[in-house]
Amino acid sequence: MSVAVVTGASTGIGAATAARLSREPGTELVLVARREELLRELADSLPCRATYVAVDLTAAEAPQRVRAHLEAEHGSRLDLLVNNAGASWRGDFGSSGYANVQRHMELNFDAVVRLTEALLPLLRASAPSAIVNVASTAGRVARARTGAYSASKFALIGWTDALYAEELPYDVHVGMVLPGFVATEGFPATELREKALTRWIVSKPEAVAEAIYEAGPGGKPERYVPRPYALAAVARILAPRLVRRVLSGGAAANLTTSTAGDGTPR
Ligand SMILES: NC(=O)c1ccc[n+]([C@@H]2O[C@H](COP(=O)([O-])OP(=O)(O)OC[C@H]3O[C@@H](n4cnc5c(N)ncnc54)[C@H](OP(=O)(O)O)[C@@H]3O)[C@@H](O)[C@H]2O)c1
Repeated sequence: MSVAVVTGASTGIGAATAARLSREPGTELVLVARREELLRELADSLPCRATYVAVDLTAAEAPQRVRAHLEAEHGSRLDLLVNNAGASWRGDFGSSGYANVQRHMELNFDAVVRLTEALLPLLRASAPSAIVNVASTAGRVARARTGAYSASKFALIGWTDALYAEELPYDVHVGMVLPGFVATEGFPATELREKALTRWIVSKPEAVAEAIYEAGPGGKPERYVPRPYALAAVARILAPRLVRRVLSGGAAANLTTSTAGDGTPR
């Protein structure tokens, strides 16, 4: 038997991850997101035991609610924590300012850190166990109008690298997955999917779910999805002037796709 918590499980990559993990014999899942109806529907459709916690992960009490649920429903066991919930609200800094940076940090970074802090004792007690943080290729290379999102993912990557080293002695593996463009509710990538020239660079949530599974207990420390996106990170280090020139040019605007969060007031 193994127990996994998946955040952001109501749609997209999180829902695909829950479906992937549910195929492993003996798995019990805890699905976390805000929309209870979606979580209930998913839990009912999975071939394993699945419970859920409908909560806003940026709320002060969210980490303790998830922990209390694990203690009450799953015997305090936790073999895998998938920190996947996240969002992006596009906007240049001059217009969207600190408020937009703060909103990204609260969800994509602070909420991950706070939930991990609350659940780490359970992960250590259940070791060998794992944490998988869903970062982004945007945490290696930043584009115009995605600076706040990139900042939150750069922060997540740095923190995850340190946590990997710190938790090794406790047998808690820390893995990280860095997706590129993946068509989901929150990140529909409509502009890229509409054109034959760019359609091929958009991948599916199921591909990321497989990578998350591979980065779980005893697994890989880092996976780009699709794998060639690692070249963008390498280019940023080895050819920074070239990358800057490309990402500042007119064609780069096509790479800042719209998100579901765009235009949502804080
Ligand atoms: N799709 C891409 O192109 C892409 C690329 C790189 C990285 N990523 C990362 O992948 C992760 C999953 O994104 P996705 O593409 O699957 O997008 P998605 O379909 O919009 O899923 C986001 C999930 O996060 C949940 N969520 C959002 N705000 C929340 C909050 N305050 N509290 C609790 N749950 C919250 C949403 O559920 P509720 O609305 O029900 O709360 C939803 O389940 C994110 O961290 C994202 O940054 C995505």
